[in-house]
Amino acid sequence: MTIQDSVRPEIRQMKGYVSGEQPAFGKFIKLNTNENPFEPSNKVIDAIHDTAAGKLNVYPDAMANSFRIAAAEVLGVDQDWILCGNGSDDLLTIITRTFVSPGSKIRIPYPSYVLYRTLADIQGAAIEEIPFDKNWKLPESFGADDDNLSLVFLPNPNSPSGTVISPEGVLKLANSISCPLVVDEAYADFASANCLHLVKEASNIIVTRTLSKSYGLAGLRFGFAVANPETIAEMQKVKDSYNCDALAIAGATAAISDQHWLQGNIRIVKSLRGVMESELSKLGFDVQPSEANFVWCKHPDFDSKELYDKLKENHILVRYMDYPNWGDGIRISIGTSNQISALITILESIITV
Ligand SMILES: Cc1ncc(COP(=O)(O)O)c(C=O)c1O
Repeated sequence: MTIQDSVRPEIRQMKGYVSGEQPAFGKFIKLNTNENPFEPSNKVIDAIHDTAAGKLNVYPDAMANSFRIAAAEVLGVDQDWILCGNGSDDLLTIITRTFVSPGSKIRIPYPSYVLYRTLADIQGAAIEEIPFDKNWKLPESFGADDDNLSLVFLPNPNSPSGTVISPEGVLKLANSISCPLVVDEAYADFASANCLHLVKEASNIIVTRTLSKSYGLAGLRFGFAVANPETIAEMQKVKDSYNCDALAIAGATAAISDQHWLQGNIRIVKSLRGVMESELSKLGFDVQPSEANFVWCKHPDFDSKELYDKLKENHILVRYMDYPNWGDGIRISIGTSNQISALITILESIITV
């Protein structure tokens, strides 16, 4: 018997999630994983230093209560409506383990966040992908109820498109299904509306958020879920006992308490998004208007994979995505003004040859 024979069949057969390239620091302009191009608030760094200086010999607070108290104030919910995680990916895992029995079905839009399929595979659940139309609208069938449906994931804004479904549309969807609806709001801080308030209107809605994008803290690994306290209590049973470390809790608490920094950063990233969209359009790209910190685009005369390769040769990393039965394109994270200029200069040289 080999070790492979002992691996669960679901795990042996699955591909596993492949994250975006993280090359050695400094070699590339990195516009491939939707990180924030700016350093986080100084208050975050100070809080982490203070914690590292004195509190690492004891376990962290298992519920990250300092963060929950600060977040409750900012979000306008009581703290028992909040559960923290090691990035929002951790919360997506906890949610899947809490609600999805092996053999049941998870519904997701397609194309969307690739991790959902991995979570379904690990859990031994089926995945039902409902395709967006070419205008990134979902068909009515996305809201069809089904006895075997155990969970619906809706990234809003969606990745890779940066498009949104209105809160009215999300509420209608939640009311049409009889399982939990996860509204994955990893990018909602960059959007014109969000669905946080809906957790009080539909008890099956769980909103997940992350500090990786708008707070500039992808390296810290911190996210949170907001849902009614009964849901949070069930999810709490599933999470690892100390799923957030002391440094992350300290940094995240300082980050959510510094809304002044957040609002300033969002303003800058949104304005740079406008620059990126208009510069790409001038070069002839079809650019999908975005409500996130990235744009999805495609050039009618150039192969997306070749553009990606040429950018990489020039030390600019973007994300090339090829979705079977859908099509391909390039997703580009919003960078600093200098990074956008460098990107546009290289693209210009490729396109105008
Ligand atoms: C739609 C979506 N949800 C969740 C995440 C995970 O974010 P985190 O860094 O909080 O795990 C990402 C990361 O890129 C994402 O694109």
